[in-house]
Amino acid sequence: MNAPTIGGFVEVGDLTDRAFERLRQTVLRECGIVLGPHKKPLVRCRLQPRLRSLRMKSYDQYVDLLENHDPDRQELAELLDRITTNQTHFFRERIHIDHVAGEFLDSILEAGPPREIRGWCAACSMGQEPASILMAMLDRLPGGGRWDVKILGTDLSRRALQKAMSGRYTESEMSSLPEPLRKRWTSPVSGGYQLSRDLLRRVKFARLNLLRESFPLRSDVDFVFCRNVMIYFDGPTRAALVRRLMSHIRPGGLLALGVAEALIDKVPGLQPITTSLYRRTG
Ligand SMILES: C[S@@+](CC[C@H](N)C(=O)[O-])C[C@H]1O[C@@H](n2cnc3c(N)ncnc32)[C@H](O)[C@@H]1O
Repeated sequence: MNAPTIGGFVEVGDLTDRAFERLRQTVLRECGIVLGPHKKPLVRCRLQPRLRSLRMKSYDQYVDLLENHDPDRQELAELLDRITTNQTHFFRERIHIDHVAGEFLDSILEAGPPREIRGWCAACSMGQEPASILMAMLDRLPGGGRWDVKILGTDLSRRALQKAMSGRYTESEMSSLPEPLRKRWTSPVSGGYQLSRDLLRRVKFARLNLLRESFPLRSDVDFVFCRNVMIYFDGPTRAALVRRLMSHIRPGGLLALGVAEALIDKVPGLQPITTSLYRRTG
C-alpha cells in the first residue's frame, strides 16, 4: 500500500529518538561525524525530501532500508551526501595558502631545479580549496610550465566531488576570488564561471573516506590540507587521523588543519609554524 499523501506529498512521520539514534550510529560508524542531540532537527530537515522521494513515511523504515536492503551501499552514499556539510569558498583561511605559495614555495625554489610539487586536499569539498592553492602557487612560479605542480582533492561527498570536477562556479561562489585571479584562471560561462583547463589538468579528484585505516596514496607529499572536517569528529578519531595524514607527508612538508582545529597536545614529528599549520620534522 502506498504511503498516505497530502497534496501529492508523502506525509513523513516525525523523526523519533529511536530512529535518530540508529541514524546517528550509522553516520558515526561510516564517516566519523558525531551528530549530537541538537543536530536532530537538521537531520530531519536534510532527510525528509529523500524519504518523500522514496515514498517512505517513517525514518525507521529508511534506516531499515540502509541496514537491510542496500547491498551496493548506494543509499548510504546518498545519506552521507545529505548529512555532510560542504560549505567552503575560494581562499578560505588564506593564511595557509599564503604560506604555501610564499615561504614554503621559496624554500623549494632555493633548493634546486624545477621538480614535482605534490599536494593533497583531504576533504576538499567542491574544489575551491585546491584551486585556490594552485592559483596562488602558479602565480609565483617563474616559467610555471616547467614546474610540475599537482594537487589531489578527495572528499566523501559524491555531490561535492561532482561539482569540483566540473570546475564551474556561480557568480556568488566567485565573490571571494580576487579579481586578477578570476580573470587569469576562469572564463565566463552561462550562470557563472569555468576554471581554465590549465588549472583543472593539475588537480585530480577522488572519493576517499578519511575514516579508512590506510590511504592508497604516496607517502612523500609536499603538503596536506585537511581543514574544517575534524571539527565533526571525536578526539580519538582526530588523533588517529593526524597520525595517518602525517605518514603521507615528506620530512619538511606541511600539514594544515582548520583554524578552529589546532592541535591541543604536542604531536611528536609535527612542529607548529603558525595557526593550525605544522611542519613534519622527521
Ligand atoms: C566544511 S567542508 C570543508 C571544505 C574545505 N576543506 C574547507 O576548509 O573549506 C567539510 C568536508 O568534509 C567532508 N567529509 C566529512 N566527513 C568526511 C570523511 N569521513 N571523509 C572524507 N571527507 C569527509 C564533507 O563531505 C565536506 O565536504
